[in-house]
Amino acid sequence: MKKLSGDVYYPSEDILNNAIVKDWNEMDKFASENLEGFWAKEAEELEWFEKWDKVLDDTKKPFYKWFTGAKTNIAYNCLDVHLKTYRKNKVALIWEGEKGESRIFSYFALHREVSRFANVLKSLGVQKGDRVTLYMGRIPELAMGMLACARIGAVHSVVYGGFSVESLHERLEDSHSKVLIVCDGAYQRGKIIPLKAIADEALQRAASVESVLVVKRTGEPVNMEFGRDIWYHELVNLPIINSKNDIEKVDAEDPLFMLYTSGTTGKPKAILHTHGGYMVGTYSTFKYVFDINDEDRYWCAADPGWVTGHSYIVYGPLLNGATSMMYEGAPNYPFPNRWWQIIEKYGITILYTAPTAIRGLMRFGEAWPNRHDLSSLRILGSVGEPINPEAWRWYHRVIGKNNCPIMDTWWQTETGSFMITPMPCMPLKPGSGTKPFPGLKMDILDEAGNPVKDNEEGFLVIKTPWPAMMRTIYKDPDKYIEKYWSKYDGMYLTGDSAKRDEDGYYWIIGRTDDVLKVSGYRLGTAEIESALVSHPAVAEAAAIGLPHELKGNAIHTFVILKSGFEKSEKLREDLIYHVGHEVGPIAKPESVEFVDVLPKTRSGKIMRRVLKARALGEDPGNISTLEE
Ligand code: WT7
Repeated sequence: MKKLSGDVYYPSEDILNNAIVKDWNEMDKFASENLEGFWAKEAEELEWFEKWDKVLDDTKKPFYKWFTGAKTNIAYNCLDVHLKTYRKNKVALIWEGEKGESRIFSYFALHREVSRFANVLKSLGVQKGDRVTLYMGRIPELAMGMLACARIGAVHSVVYGGFSVESLHERLEDSHSKVLIVCDGAYQRGKIIPLKAIADEALQRAASVESVLVVKRTGEPVNMEFGRDIWYHELVNLPIINSKNDIEKVDAEDPLFMLYTSGTTGKPKAILHTHGGYMVGTYSTFKYVFDINDEDRYWCAADPGWVTGHSYIVYGPLLNGATSMMYEGAPNYPFPNRWWQIIEKYGITILYTAPTAIRGLMRFGEAWPNRHDLSSLRILGSVGEPINPEAWRWYHRVIGKNNCPIMDTWWQTETGSFMITPMPCMPLKPGSGTKPFPGLKMDILDEAGNPVKDNEEGFLVIKTPWPAMMRTIYKDPDKYIEKYWSKYDGMYLTGDSAKRDEDGYYWIIGRTDDVLKVSGYRLGTAEIESALVSHPAVAEAAAIGLPHELKGNAIHTFVILKSGFEKSEKLREDLIYHVGHEVGPIAKPESVEFVDVLPKTRSGKIMRRVLKARALGEDPGNISTLEE
């Protein structure tokens, strides 16, 4: 193996001998020389009701289409196909509740539950193409609800349970959802988040929602509105619901789900993914990157409400017939060994999580993990933000016992599947996601569009299409072009800055736009600002991200009060609470500073960069456009 520069971790003999992919270069060469052939070969491992006419249709680019003319259904490939094999009795989903209870579903059982769920949705009048919003805790019914939508050709829109009234309202309205699926509440660190009560508030202004399906989780009393709200358990137990559910044969390009994500404007945008391409992309990236075997017990500790959970708790693992674990609660509840206990108890072989969680658990010291037998682990994963080398090494040594390669996967809601990622056979460098997935061409450009030199920072772009790519922004194709395809001709703009070293390894630096990654969660500064100005005391507001040891970034805000309002500690607390209530607890600012002016350009745009430089005690750079 070629000698690489820097701190390099080479794969062990054992991994090299047993991995599905033993020679990454060979695979990349094959895929690069014949991109469509490569993906066609992957697609052939899945089932299609009718085969495609074309693998890639780029006649209307950047509105690329994949597997056009084909008919399939991702839920069919996740469940029904496995019932024809020994996997019928294999464990599909292991769930552990925060209180320690578990529910385990074989492929047979999960298929049955999803079919019944699909019948419930049909009984509420949900039809192909209708949007269904899910606002739930981490419970099996969330995965079942998503798969049930897919099964009948409805489009799911999952809203993360950590979002609050205004975020949910906006997403219900924009998606024009017919049905909302919600839990009575969700457990979080022994407390109950009243999801149904939050939904009630959001529903007051969401006219499109005809029915609300309520899944009982906590048993706490909730308000049930007559004629609108129905208990899931009451419907699903009606004898008629057990009747056979016929799968909807959808076009490869029919929408599967939309997922709202933060951009540079105040309004989150819905990223649209389709059945065919997304299915092929998540299937094959999951298979190769996590080197999945039938014996594996895989655990992605993310929330299904984010794309990580969509692609790599639900779809990728089930398409591969793998065993996927879902845990309801917090990593350190009731004690900081909760995760390590779960790994030991279920014999988890692959753990996939975020740097912020690793840093958080690292803080409690090595004694907690050392108390548990973690020897079942063979591969680790990281996602959501750059992993600092110190956390990488801790994860590798203390959790992986120097035996488990770490797959640092870079991707986005928009990309649907892994883009820059190692495979277990590759030499690793702490903090680098190594190279683009086979066949993908990426580059790092300067402002003018010229490739930068090795180890220089620039804009990260993608130059080839890939099957799981987003198809558009829901209802806003112009914005899709403007945001992603207009800075450089024919190239997808990721919004991240990065460097590439002399070995061709990529190093992600961070966002170049007004998007923040706080504890791995994606938030827009504009969302936080609009929540602040919706408070009666606030005239203007600005939000920035500053480095934070655990969270990666923390939100700091600057507020100009309306005349007649006095700054006070009480008001500061009120504003923080208000952002939590409007957007969600994850968006609560770390600090609120009352100011008299904000730095602005002559055209009135807030110069967040100036605020950031000031807070960090740095030179703000070019301020020639500053108003005064
Ligand atoms: C942004 C996308 C993709 C699943 C979760 C995030 C950052 C993501 C990494 C990584 C460095 C990363 C980027 C990207 N990001 N993974 N391995 N190393 N940065 O999806 O919420 O759409 O956020 O997350 O900045 O643009 P998302």
